[in-house]
Amino acid sequence: MSLKEKIDLSKLPSHIAIIMDGNGRWAQQKGEERVFGHQHGVEAVRDTVEGAAELGIKYLTLYAFSTENWNRPKEEIDALMSLLVKTINAETKTLNKNDIRLQAIGDLKSLPGDCYEELQDAMQKTASNKRMTLVLALSYSSRWEILNAVKELAEEVKNGKLSPSAIDEAAFSAKLCTAGMPEPELMIRTSGEHRISNYLLWQLAYAELYFTDTLWPDFRKEDLYEAIVDYQNRERRFGKTSEQVTNEK
Ligand code: IPE
Ligand code: IPE
Ligand code: MG
Repeated sequence: MSLKEKIDLSKLPSHIAIIMDGNGRWAQQKGEERVFGHQHGVEAVRDTVEGAAELGIKYLTLYAFSTENWNRPKEEIDALMSLLVKTINAETKTLNKNDIRLQAIGDLKSLPGDCYEELQDAMQKTASNKRMTLVLALSYSSRWEILNAVKELAEEVKNGKLSPSAIDEAAFSAKLCTAGMPEPELMIRTSGEHRISNYLLWQLAYAELYFTDTLWPDFRKEDLYEAIVDYQNRERRFGKTSEQVTNEK
């Protein structure tokens, strides 16, 4: 039985979030500059997006650039941004062909102008696609997102539009960049690092975490299938006992 056949299509996660890590190390292992790893990371993105859409995953969120990544050497940031512009531009047609909608979360206004415009253009051109939503986390950090949500809620309270007692999980979630999206049930991080790195802290509250040593440029559909099979073999208890969960089935 192939890995793909082991996947129970009736129990797919509706949202998978990925921390695409290890591009730099992949390149260095090959005696190349870090940017070489980012370039090859694009192939992994293409294959993973295709694999997720084929399976019927509804939301795929990829961590492409964090707020903290602005602290990297300028040459690397410049190379990443131009790669982003080039890739988004080149892939828009394929996204449309595959009925995939592109969205982005993060402080998009902090991106270079050409990058921001390319992104807006691609999001607009794919806006009516229905099969899957591909979300790029760009200049994103969860603390930034949470603070923004808090500021917005505080403004509404100050203006008398919202009562503090009405601030519940739904009201808070509605102020996050991911408003309207289901919470990720599965979070995958490549490259052997076991941390969250300021990614979707609120949204991942009950996600299953999956870590693999595979470096991002080597990640392919098969690796995605492996993560999903692993996810499907776990018991999600949400604070209850195993017995309760079993009886609910
Ligand atoms: C992930 O790979 C890509 C980005 C953060 C943009 P890295 O560039 O972090 O690669 P490593 O972790 O240094 O190997
Ligand atoms: C997380 O990777 C951010 C992205 C994948 C875009 P990093 O490589 O920046 O994470 P840390 O700094 O090692 O935790
Ligand atoms: Mg890294």
